[in-house]
Amino acid sequence: MQENFLHKKVTIIGTGMVGMSYAYALTIKGFVRELGLINRTPERAQGEAMDLCHCLPFVEPMDIKAGGYEMCRDAQIVVITAGAAQREGETRLDLLHKNAGIIQDIVPRVLEQNPNPILLIASNPVDVLTYVALKVSGLPSSRVIGSGTVLDTMRFRYLISQYYNVDARNVHGYILGEHGDSEVPVWSRVNIAGIPLSEYCMMCGELVDSQKKEIESDVRNAAYHVIQKKDSTYYAIGLALVRITQAILMNQQSVLTVGTLVNGEYGIKDVCLSLPCVVGSNGISQVLANPMQQNEVEALQNSAAVLRKALDSIGW
Ligand code: LAC
Repeated sequence: MQENFLHKKVTIIGTGMVGMSYAYALTIKGFVRELGLINRTPERAQGEAMDLCHCLPFVEPMDIKAGGYEMCRDAQIVVITAGAAQREGETRLDLLHKNAGIIQDIVPRVLEQNPNPILLIASNPVDVLTYVALKVSGLPSSRVIGSGTVLDTMRFRYLISQYYNVDARNVHGYILGEHGDSEVPVWSRVNIAGIPLSEYCMMCGELVDSQKKEIESDVRNAAYHVIQKKDSTYYAIGLALVRITQAILMNQQSVLTVGTLVNGEYGIKDVCLSLPCVVGSNGISQVLANPMQQNEVEALQNSAAVLRKALDSIGW
């Protein structure tokens, strides 16, 4: 057990708002020993590293450095947040062409330095880019992980928790499929502290269909709403990345809705999208494809079709 807490290194490629919100949260959490920062403008990464280093008197000891791709050596996890971010009026899929090119450029450079990292992809459209990173890298699918709908699942749990005035950590439920407009809320599996929602509703007032639709829409459109008000989203995705990192570096075997290559589950193949996955030090050890309602399965298949079409459009 002790060794799980020894030398842990994460390297982040892309020191924009998402990369740095993640880096800042990692610095505060204190379970990483070494943090590497890479940016296409090296000065930017240097400034960010300096700013974070000034936190060190108040946090667990860490070695924080900016540099080139040699920063990826010895990193258990290389996290890619580089690329254009979604702007007002754009969907995540609009970023496809530009960011697919960026991923194709970055991944071989990482592998030159480190042949067997866990790649954690956060750049959007994350599901498509996770697939591109997987194919370009030739790594096993257990080691190429998308941030997927971990964030949407957080938003879903938060909104349900607000409705019932209960701790969000006691709300369990999943958003699966695309991290984007076709994502799927799995209402049939939502429970609060193990009590299925239908029974919890009997105790505390039913969530009627229109309210469910409102929660779904608020989750699906959360990024659009935030972007409209403050141009981009970064704190919540930053913490979603910390949660995935923690599961990996501490071998927690946590069930998280990360993006993964789907291999026949629900009749879906050859796309990356989010399903509940068991995540630990070797990446994804298991994909949990539990029974869902037929309408949920169909929505998931539709989400897969949207993603396959996007991949086809860029020749993957
Ligand atoms: C969001 C971005 C990270 O959903 O896609 O906030």
